[in-house]
Amino acid sequence: MGKVYLVGAGPGKKELLTLKAYELIQKADVILRDELIGEVEDILKNVRAEIINVGKRSGKHSMKQEEINKLLVEMAKKYDIVVRLKGGDPFIFGRGGEEAEYLVDNGIEFEVVPGVTSAIAVPECACIPLTHREFDPAVVFITGRETKRRLNWEALAKLNATIVVLMGVENLREICENLIKFGKDPNTPVAIIEKGFSAEERILEGDLLNIAEKAKKEKIEPPAIIVIGEVVNLRQKLIRFFSPD
Ligand SMILES: C[S@@+](CC[C@H](N)C(=O)[O-])C[C@H]1O[C@@H](n2cnc3c(N)ncnc32)[C@H](O)[C@@H]1O
Repeated sequence: MGKVYLVGAGPGKKELLTLKAYELIQKADVILRDELIGEVEDILKNVRAEIINVGKRSGKHSMKQEEINKLLVEMAKKYDIVVRLKGGDPFIFGRGGEEAEYLVDNGIEFEVVPGVTSAIAVPECACIPLTHREFDPAVVFITGRETKRRLNWEALAKLNATIVVLMGVENLREICENLIKFGKDPNTPVAIIEKGFSAEERILEGDLLNIAEKAKKEKIEPPAIIVIGEVVNLRQKLIRFFSPD
């Protein structure tokens, strides 16, 4: 029986792949990759492993989570080193936890290889430090897909925290309305970073009151990270001498 490595591919920039992830990609017998792995795709062109894309999007067939889980087990029975390559970090909104559970239930050994999560790195590439001593003393990461059921919007609105939203483009208007409804200042700055770490990256700034309209006008699309909080205002200062390679 082989071993499954749940590997974080980072936010899409080759150099932000960890050394351990790189070594595993070289050694793997089979790699089950996500769609959103950015430049790491280039690295996959020169490996010995069989590559299976389990994350095809935009209309093309994409595998259901249950199918991916089963395939992982099947591959572990066939190969020694199975790499499950996931965007960002495997355990941050990446269903890595579900895959790990399924492996355990099927008696398969596994290891998690952390990746640089887009939740932190994408705001950084836009010159937004998620914490700063002069602003909110907490950071909360939320999925934008839970606008009604399980999130306590009142608590979130009242917490003095920078809010980072993943998968939030479709529900942006509702997210902003929820926060305003429960007392968050409508003038709270908001930034959206679309397709971070890519040539198509776009950054949009506004506030809780106007960002949904701006995003609609600019046709902002996923993948994007939304940052809500006063730290967004630091961007205009930091960008002046920000010089990414
Ligand atoms: C299913 S979640 C996976 C997150 C991933 N596990 C991580 O740690 O980055 C996908 C969401 O991550 C965010 N995301 C991932 N890569 C991104 C990028 N390069 N630019 C902007 N947002 C990104 C978007 O919010 C996207 O909808």
